[in-house]
Amino acid sequence: MSVKISLVPIFICGFLALQAAAQDYSIKSYAFLGTGCPAGSTTVATDAKNQALLARFNAFTANVGPGVPISHSRKNCDATLTISVPDGYKFSFNHFGYYTGYSLDKSVNARYNTYYYFQSDIAEGGGNGNVTGLSSDLKYISTPVSPPVWSDCGIDATVIVDTAVRVSNTANRSGSGTFNYQQLNILPDSFTWARC
Ligand SMILES: *[C@@H]1O[C@H](CO)[C@@H](O)[C@H](O)[C@H]1NC(C)=O
Ligand SMILES: *[C@@H]1O[C@H](CO)[C@@H](O)[C@H](O)[C@H]1NC(C)=O
Repeated sequence: MSVKISLVPIFICGFLALQAAAQDYSIKSYAFLGTGCPAGSTTVATDAKNQALLARFNAFTANVGPGVPISHSRKNCDATLTISVPDGYKFSFNHFGYYTGYSLDKSVNARYNTYYYFQSDIAEGGGNGNVTGLSSDLKYISTPVSPPVWSDCGIDATVIVDTAVRVSNTANRSGSGTFNYQQLNILPDSFTWARC
């Protein structure tokens, strides 16, 4: 399913001069695949210029606890995006935004990470974080990614963004925990632009 959203407030927040010069990019296509985003479980919204993408996940939840199969403890989702890059520019990503929800018993840990790479290259940039129980929250998490990995210049770039979470109760076998990625935000400020 795909819907259009309005991101006017983002565009009036202001860009660096370079960002303004590179505003002709667009996200031309997207696909989601992984244990956290099985077919039909992701709803995508883009803005009118296809420069922002919000992916709402309906099945991206990792669980641990007594009797819970180990296969439930780790979930991931690969987003494959094709992005048109304006002449004379290249981009990298600096962060990805996530709406999450989690509930972790004492000493139960959730470790989340994201990395991205271009189909044409083996280099990757990534970032991670973790939260340990006792903790329960609905939280927006920004995951910075580094080092910067750059697209080619001025041609369509296919980039894979892999988001994953692993929940562990090795420090408390009788404890339970759940971590849910509700939404991935790739917004104009997720991109860093540079001249070629
Ligand atoms: C968990 O996060 C803390 C900071 O919140 C960090 O110091 C620690 O290295 C992280 N642990 C792992 C295993 O990533
Ligand atoms: C493990 O989790 C259970 C359930 O929350 C809690 O009652 C217990 O105190 C925890 N044990 C340890 C060692 O943290």
